[in-house]
Amino acid sequence: GVLIVVSPVSNDTGIKMVPDNAHPFQAPGPNDQRGPCPGLNTLANHGYLPRNGIASFEQIITAVREGFNMEHDLAGALAGFAMLARGNAFLDLVSIGGVSPLIPVLPGAIDGPKPPGGIATHGRFEGDVSMTRQDAAIGDNVHFQDSLYDELLLYVGKFGDNSPVTGNSSIVTTKVMQEFKFARFVEDQIKNPVLQYHAGRNSLSYGEAAFVLNFFANGTDGTLSTPVMGSFFRNQTFPDDWYRRSSPGNITLIGQGVDEIRNAHPVPPGANAPNGTYVLDAPINSCSDVYFNLAVENLPASYSKATGVFKQNVDTLLAAVAKAFGCPVIFPTGLS
Ligand code: HEM
Ligand code: MG
Repeated sequence: GVLIVVSPVSNDTGIKMVPDNAHPFQAPGPNDQRGPCPGLNTLANHGYLPRNGIASFEQIITAVREGFNMEHDLAGALAGFAMLARGNAFLDLVSIGGVSPLIPVLPGAIDGPKPPGGIATHGRFEGDVSMTRQDAAIGDNVHFQDSLYDELLLYVGKFGDNSPVTGNSSIVTTKVMQEFKFARFVEDQIKNPVLQYHAGRNSLSYGEAAFVLNFFANGTDGTLSTPVMGSFFRNQTFPDDWYRRSSPGNITLIGQGVDEIRNAHPVPPGANAPNGTYVLDAPINSCSDVYFNLAVENLPASYSKATGVFKQNVDTLLAAVAKAFGCPVIFPTGLS
C-alpha cells in the first residue's frame, strides 16, 4: 500500500495566469481517462494532473489549487470522498474517468470483486441533475452533451448580463444558474423514473453550479463570459489570458453559492417514487445531512474490514471529508 499523509496548506494562493509554460494543452490519448468533471478533465489535459487521468489524493489537492485556487480542505473533502467512493484507497489511486487496468481490486475484494469504477461510475459521487451530462437512467452521464449545453446557453441569453465588449447577454450570472438548475431538475424529475436527489447529491449538484461561477470565472474581474465557460466545458482547456481566482475558494463560499442558487426555486432533498412523484427526505443528521448522506450512507460499510496501511488511509480520508463539514467522523454504513 501507499500511506496517505495530508500535506500542509500551501501559501501559493494568489491570482496568477493559468496555464504556465510547463502545462500546455495536449488532447488525451485513447487510453487516458476522462470523465464527468470538467475541472479535473481540464487539469489532466494540461498535465496539472497526470495526463493518463489516474491521480492520488495529494495530486488532486495540488492540481485544483494550482489551476483553480480551490482551498485545501474543500479539495481534501472532494478528493477524499472520490477516493473512498470510486478509487483504491490502499494504493492511493483514483480514475477521473472509468475503470482502469492501472487500478486493481481492493485488498480482500473489499467493496466487491470488481475493480474501483472511477468517478464516472454512477452512484455515490456521480449523480443526477448534472448540467452538461445526462442522468445515467436517461443517457450519457459521463461525456459532455451538446444539447444540454445549448440549453445552458439559452439561459445565458435570457438571464445573463450584457457583456461590455459585445453588448450581448453573454455573462454567466447567479441568476442564470438559478433558472437553469431549476429547469434541469424539472426536466429530469419528469423524464427519470429513478431520479435520486438526496441530501448529498442535491448539494453537490448545486455546488457544481457554484463551481462554474466561482472557479471558471476570470480571476482578473471575477466575471464569467460565455466563451470562457465554453472553453472549460466544451474543449476542456484553459482559455487564453485566463487567471485563476484571487483568493482560495472554500466550502463557505461554495455553501453560500448553493443557498443562493437553490433558494430561488427551492428543491429540497428527495427522490422519485415509482408513481413518479418527488418524495422529500426526512432530516437525517444533526451536524449535516449532506455530510451524513455522502460519507456515511453512500460509502460501503465493508471498509471496516480494512487493515494496516489500508485502514490508516481509510481513516485519513474519512477525516478529510468530515473536516470540511466541521462534523465528527461517523463510520460508513452503506450497503453497496
Ligand atoms: C462534476 C469530482 C473538482 C467543476 C463533478 C463530478 C464529479 C466531480 C465526480 C460529477 C458529478 C455529477 O455531475 O454527476 C470532482 C473532484 C474534485 C473536483 C473529486 C476534486 C477536488 C472540481 C473543480 C471544478 C469542478 C476544481 C471547477 C474548477 C465541476 C463541474 C461539474 C463537476 C462544473 C458539473 C458538470 C456538469 O454538471 O455538467 N466533479 N471535482 N470540479 N465538477 Fe468536479
Ligand atoms: Mg451526473
